[in-house]
Amino acid sequence: VVGSSWLEVEKALAERFANGKLTREDLPTPALLLDLDAFEYNIGKMAQHVRSHGLALRPHGKSHKCPEIAKALVRAGAVGICAAKISEAEVFALGGVGGLLITTAVIGRYKIERAILLAKSRPETIFCVDDEQNIRDLSDAARQGRVRLNLAIDLRVGRRTGIQPLQPAVALAELIESLPHVRLAGLQAYAGHVAHVAGWEERKKASVAAMSPAVETRQLLERKGIGVSFLSAGSTGTYDIDVEIAGVTELQPGSFIFMDMVYNNIGGRGGPIFDDFRNSLTVLTTVVSQPGDGVAIVDGGFKAFATDQPCTPLPKNRESIYSWGGDEHGILTYADVARTAKVGDTVEFIVPHCDPSVNLYDRIFCLRGDRVEAVWPIAARGRSQ
Ligand SMILES: Cc1ncc(COP(=O)(O)O)c(C=O)c1O
Repeated sequence: VVGSSWLEVEKALAERFANGKLTREDLPTPALLLDLDAFEYNIGKMAQHVRSHGLALRPHGKSHKCPEIAKALVRAGAVGICAAKISEAEVFALGGVGGLLITTAVIGRYKIERAILLAKSRPETIFCVDDEQNIRDLSDAARQGRVRLNLAIDLRVGRRTGIQPLQPAVALAELIESLPHVRLAGLQAYAGHVAHVAGWEERKKASVAAMSPAVETRQLLERKGIGVSFLSAGSTGTYDIDVEIAGVTELQPGSFIFMDMVYNNIGGRGGPIFDDFRNSLTVLTTVVSQPGDGVAIVDGGFKAFATDQPCTPLPKNRESIYSWGGDEHGILTYADVARTAKVGDTVEFIVPHCDPSVNLYDRIFCLRGDRVEAVWPIAARGRSQ
């Protein structure tokens, strides 16, 4: 893990960091923390798993939006990084990350111009498409910009984007093949509705059913002589399912690097908790008020955790129950009154949902034990365009 400078924070803390003396207890809260031992375990495990099945790993960068994390994944063997949108991809490219697959179609003149610029600096970038006119627009822009764009057909195997598999997808592939300034690089089949299906057996059934039209589409294309060099699929929830589906060549999971409460709760192969990966991501808060026995108020509320899930943040020490206290605060209640945290104490939480929580922070403090080993900017924070 490579350290990075921390220029914007108060000088005293920066000096402590420079001297290697900055610890968890020094951090201004709410703060986003990464447990490096758990993070390194997660990326090592996923990389080894994918490699042992002869597949490629192109993890999704939407979970972390952090070029330093992307580079750590590439060092672990990832062939590249997925980016949700063009603006996220630009940040990764500027941060020195290659092998980008942009998983949402780039629509509209302004964004297409940016795609051309990106393709000029990173010719291996792959753009997902699911619409005939968009392909023609990309091709026209590529001709004007004197580049050749790599396209991946996004197949609708879930509830969101994508062209219908089989014949409609084949028609798009034939269109791409007919245009000189674009080329068919591969297929994407992301079954997002399957990722959180509770119970491993149920999830397996759902994923195999969702992926079979994608695999058939690949076979159909190959029978027609249209080569498809990759089929990218999978999520953290299906990481040990999709590697067994013949025809899938690469996985694009995101959350496994951090894990979160909703993923822990889907159930794993071995039991009701999905704990194949460790909880490396937490939010550190401070108790700012203690109104009475058994209650403590922390300085993290709606602005410190994403609120899209029904569950509330989970204290890492499991000693209290968190309930929302508004934008800036959380309310902790303690069954064991003697354990009530006091003003100035810190309390650390596992987040309900990692991706949108990370997007609330400018930087992530990377800890080895209690010591801050690195501070990484969430450089693509807010880049959802
Ligand atoms: C297109 C795409 N691929 C991969 C992922 C990664 O999924 P997860 O974070 O569940 O592993 C996502 C997440 O939403 C996604 O939108």
